[in-house]
Amino acid sequence: MLLEARDLRVGYGNIEALHGISFGIERGEIVTLIGANGAGKSSTLLALARLARPEAPTVTSGDILYAGKSILGVEPHDLVRKKMMALVPEGRHIFGNLTVQENLEMATYARRGEEAEKSVDTELVFTLFPRLRERRKQRSELLSGGEQQMLAVGRALMTGSDLIMLDEPSMGLAPVLMYEMFRALRRLNDQRGITILVVEQNARVALDFASRGYVLDTGEIIASGTSAELSSNPRVKKAYLGG
Ligand SMILES: Nc1ncnc2c1ncn2[C@@H]1O[C@H](COP(=O)(O)OP(=O)(O)OP(=O)(O)O)[C@@H](O)[C@H]1O
Ligand SMILES: [Mg+2]
Repeated sequence: MLLEARDLRVGYGNIEALHGISFGIERGEIVTLIGANGAGKSSTLLALARLARPEAPTVTSGDILYAGKSILGVEPHDLVRKKMMALVPEGRHIFGNLTVQENLEMATYARRGEEAEKSVDTELVFTLFPRLRERRKQRSELLSGGEQQMLAVGRALMTGSDLIMLDEPSMGLAPVLMYEMFRALRRLNDQRGITILVVEQNARVALDFASRGYVLDTGEIIASGTSAELSSNPRVKKAYLGG
């Protein structure tokens, strides 16, 4: 497994958000975690990324393994520096007063001395998202919501990480942009073998995109399987796919 959660309990103060969840992602896979509002999707990603943010939850028990080794003691910036993972958080978290190009460059702070690769990756981002190339000199706050979402994904790519975790990337996107983005992510997985963990409320789209998934319900995993299995699971159909 590239990334594995083992009996993970996570909380905010004395509110427990995840009650001991276990799941894993193999290198090169696209896996989704689906669930309704408040199910614990963002808490899961924030716990995995070890973010030292005020809004990040605390792991109270269990373990997170990366390539077989616990990362509970690893500093979050080391996860990025070692190119282990990059998170595209909920909401867009881009620097509105910087241009598109500057936002992409900032995301490479951990990659000093890799000028050649960085320019290849800027080109990759612009190939995946041609709209960003056209707007590369524009201040990011002037981009549409969908374009900002693409820029947030682009920033994660610029870290050069093996694993990208995305928190509800479809949120607020019109269908055309949403499919454009998922197609770009799939190309990245095909061509570069980048492993992708995506959490989504939009189960239909997520199961279409991922090959395998887990269903999270109030802090517990209540179902798992291939996308085909989950799509035909009566409980999943009823609760998440509109019957
Ligand atoms: N900063 C916080 N402080 C206290 N409780 C929190 C905090 N963030 C989330 N929670 C609680 O943890 C639980 C899981 O929330 P989480 O944000 O992980 O859900 P989610 O599945 O991402 O939901 P959504 O689809 O609405 O984004 C919820 O009960 C939520 O109220
Ligand atoms: Mg969330």
